[in-house]
Amino acid sequence: MSDIYDFNGKNYCVVTYGCQMNLHESEKISGILDNMGMSAVQSPEAADVVVFNTCCIRDTAERRALGNIGKMKELKKKNKNLLVVVTGCMTQQNGFAENLKERYQYVDVILGTHNISDLENKLREKVARKKRIASVLDTDGYIDDETTPVTRTSFPNAWVNINYGCNNFCTYCIVPYVRGRERSRTPESIIAECEKLIKDGYKEITLLGQNVNSYGNDFGDPDVNFSDLLRSVAEIEGKFRIRFMTSHPKDFTSDVVKAIKSSDKICNNIHLPVQAGSNSVLKNMNRRYTREHYMSLIDMIRDEIPDAGITTDIMVGFPYETEDDFQDTLDLVRRVRFSTAFTFIYSVRKGTKAADMPQIPYEIKQDRIKRLIALQNEITEELSKAYLGNTYEVLIEGTNEKKKGFVSGRTESGRLVSAPGDENLIGQFVNIRIDKCKNAQLTGEII
Ligand code: SAH
Ligand code: SF4
Ligand code: F3S
Repeated sequence: MSDIYDFNGKNYCVVTYGCQMNLHESEKISGILDNMGMSAVQSPEAADVVVFNTCCIRDTAERRALGNIGKMKELKKKNKNLLVVVTGCMTQQNGFAENLKERYQYVDVILGTHNISDLENKLREKVARKKRIASVLDTDGYIDDETTPVTRTSFPNAWVNINYGCNNFCTYCIVPYVRGRERSRTPESIIAECEKLIKDGYKEITLLGQNVNSYGNDFGDPDVNFSDLLRSVAEIEGKFRIRFMTSHPKDFTSDVVKAIKSSDKICNNIHLPVQAGSNSVLKNMNRRYTREHYMSLIDMIRDEIPDAGITTDIMVGFPYETEDDFQDTLDLVRRVRFSTAFTFIYSVRKGTKAADMPQIPYEIKQDRIKRLIALQNEITEELSKAYLGNTYEVLIEGTNEKKKGFVSGRTESGRLVSAPGDENLIGQFVNIRIDKCKNAQLTGEII
């Protein structure tokens, strides 16, 4: 290595774990590295800089990341100049960065979630001073969305942050600890970004926040709120779709449903995590709504938008959850009939309130998740049959990785559909008539 290490012309690889928010942050990491003159490669083996953008929502997410970071030890023996960076939610946990620095000697730079925009400086500092760096801030950071370069990887969709952080402190959740308090971007900044994206040819915008419904609350101005933001984005000219996630049942209002109805661009697809169907579990989780309130929201959505696709997140095995509580969850799932549900086994997160509650044996958790998944699969399959013979407008997102010669995309309500076609169709709206269904998978013909 020469005295002055030149990043220009080198290769990088970003390995991402976790939610859409993290996917989008990886696009900003890529933007920063591209700006330094580097090029993206798909595998760590071909890279000079590997960045792990980590997640710690569950133990499994953390172990997967640590396992792959561990593999860098061997890679570094082969390539002495390899630089390994670890950032994201995992490193932001209390005491984690110091521990990682000590135990993983081959990790060169550790950054938290609040100073990712410092990546270039820290990389240059590392090579100039030949010293490993761990830099994690306690104060809420702010990614400057106006100036941070972004290399988007999800065309025809574009992710757009509307608020960062979370104030809700659900007792199981690590996010408020690793992402800080809720901070909203200004409507002007969000709309300007969306206008540019549509001009650049993106066909779908997904607005992101841990709780989109509390967007703007930190401004204290009633005119800045989520449903008005939706309406403003929908006023941008052009044919495109608007999606958003995640909605929180305690803050979700009928005004959002009215906004969806007011514009063809805003998709009738609502991700509304319920977590549990039992009031006592919801209370222990500090979710601040009841089962009855949740059901009333579902009724309201279905009254106004009968064909809305409603999806959810559900957790089983939370502390104190009895078989009766679990039956309440199954009952709610039967009543709502979600189009799809993301199901999780509760995982203890150090530093959260629920970590100090009495834990349920793993076998019980496993038995419950199996029963929950079986029920939801049954429902998804029944709902799939209703699509047969009908035609839907689909935005083609990509080629189908599992089925050669097929492309896939989503209906407005969010259901994944595939049909014969090639990559020239990516980014196009087409009409697909559904003629086959297997479990959650819908297949058809472009007409
Ligand atoms: N802000 C969103 C999503 C948070 S994380 C919301 O409020 O819904 C995504 C999902 O992960 C959550 O909805 C929850 O179902 C799950 N999750 C969060 N913490 C978890 C934990 N400790 N164990 C298991 N699942 C968890
Ligand atoms: Fe976690 Fe609850 Fe915040 Fe969602 S709303 S990020 S589940 S604390
Ligand atoms: Fe997302 Fe995981 Fe962090 S779900 S916010 S990347 S803990």
